[in-house]
Amino acid sequence: MSRTLEREFVGRTYDDFLFRPQAGVVSSRGEIELGARLSRRLSLELPVASANMDSVTGARMAKSVALEGGIGFVHRAMTIEAQARSVGKVKRSYGYMVEQPLSLPREATIREAREFTRNHNITGILIEETRGSSVLAGLLSNRDMPWDPAFDDRKVQEFMTPVERLTTGRPGMGADEAERLLFERRIEKLPIVDEQRRIRGLITKKDISLARQRPSSSKDAKGRLLVGAAIGARGDFLERGAELIRCGADVLVIDIAHGHSEVMRTAVEAVRRHLRDVELICGNVGTREGASFLKELGADAIKVGIGPGRGCRTRLETAAGVPQLQALREAWCAVEESVPIIADGGVKDDKDIFLALVCGASTVMLGSMLSGTDEAPGHVIVDPGTREKRKIYRGMTSPQAVFEALYDDESPEAAVVALDVPAEGQEMQVPYKGSVADILHRLRGHLRSAVSYAGGQALSEVRARVLPDPLRYLIPLSEASRRESYER
Ligand code: XMP
Repeated sequence: MSRTLEREFVGRTYDDFLFRPQAGVVSSRGEIELGARLSRRLSLELPVASANMDSVTGARMAKSVALEGGIGFVHRAMTIEAQARSVGKVKRSYGYMVEQPLSLPREATIREAREFTRNHNITGILIEETRGSSVLAGLLSNRDMPWDPAFDDRKVQEFMTPVERLTTGRPGMGADEAERLLFERRIEKLPIVDEQRRIRGLITKKDISLARQRPSSSKDAKGRLLVGAAIGARGDFLERGAELIRCGADVLVIDIAHGHSEVMRTAVEAVRRHLRDVELICGNVGTREGASFLKELGADAIKVGIGPGRGCRTRLETAAGVPQLQALREAWCAVEESVPIIADGGVKDDKDIFLALVCGASTVMLGSMLSGTDEAPGHVIVDPGTREKRKIYRGMTSPQAVFEALYDDESPEAAVVALDVPAEGQEMQVPYKGSVADILHRLRGHLRSAVSYAGGQALSEVRARVLPDPLRYLIPLSEASRRESYER
């Protein structure tokens, strides 16, 4: 039995309410826990996901958001190989052990090694006896690499530390033992090899100390960062999904504009047939019927938002849409806590996140709020007139995004044909914002404050109290009270 949507939510969104302060119970806001469910099997310490948009989430953003306790969804406006490489980068970037460390053979040249470290952003390469053998021959660290280009054609074996002089660990070695060994020998990298000297992993000092410094980052069972990726619902989506899973994606999202549709049903059924039990988020929907539909299809989380996004023109062009707080409440009334809800789009101010979470969402997905940062793809543009720094933020169905995703020198027609479909997204310049870590730090602080004003010690506890009857806590705003609240 699902609940009936409260009348007061109809036509309402974030700026329509304030939250009535409750008696505070914590002595320090730093103690407040923000843990939440992202999907059926995944939880986050910070209930924030970065949107799968080509101006928001690539490998760099996904890594930074996961380090801060959220998760990033790598966009799909690129080849399967490029997207899978981005996912692999996040999975390899951090974790107590790199499971399949990259390696080069003894015979490789210094030129190759230099390129390899640059392309993969690593500081040392395991050297194997022959290409593909996985038998450890040595370690070439950045320090061993000659800088003089005259050495470029020489073989890495001349410069590496050979295996006889290396300290190695054995499979199954625990983090504490590895850390002790790294310290005792004053080394940075500990290759893990079996009795046949085959490479089984790599433990680095950097990863172990990061793991200690960041206990609340989002990690899988092996200590690697969590990462999600978008697959769409047509074309190569199954092949894409399989490759993303192979490269370590923890969760996939079928992200289509109208998720309450036969296209979605067909796609989810195909994913379940071919990719089995993969953690699968589906969206977007904006109604109770849409949420129930995705629940019945077996979605592991439901993404809610029809048209609230900053780069989105759907409502302006088609009149289709549901005000975001109403959409979240409708979805929650339909599924309650049986399937986590992700509030996607329309978050303009930090307070919107708290309102989304206490009216129905478990987590929020952010696009424009995280755009313009160093970690978002794209370059900083300096306005020649004002000297202001900016970056591009754009809807994924903006003409620019559609064109770039499909353009191919060999057959330019596909991109041109796609532009025939009128756009429901737009591109804009946003101010350059510096590091995304600073933004997430601010969001975390404001969310903790909001929980404290709501009289809680943990977000989960406040949600459990408020969700059954949010109107006991929400104050509807008049035009004057809205001005008093937000105009500064
Ligand atoms: P915010 O407001 O956080 O929204 O920037 C991010 C979300 O916007 C959605 N999105 C689009 N919606 N046309 C749309 O109708 C588009 O071109 C488009 N691009 C992104 C998406 O759900 C994203 O997470």
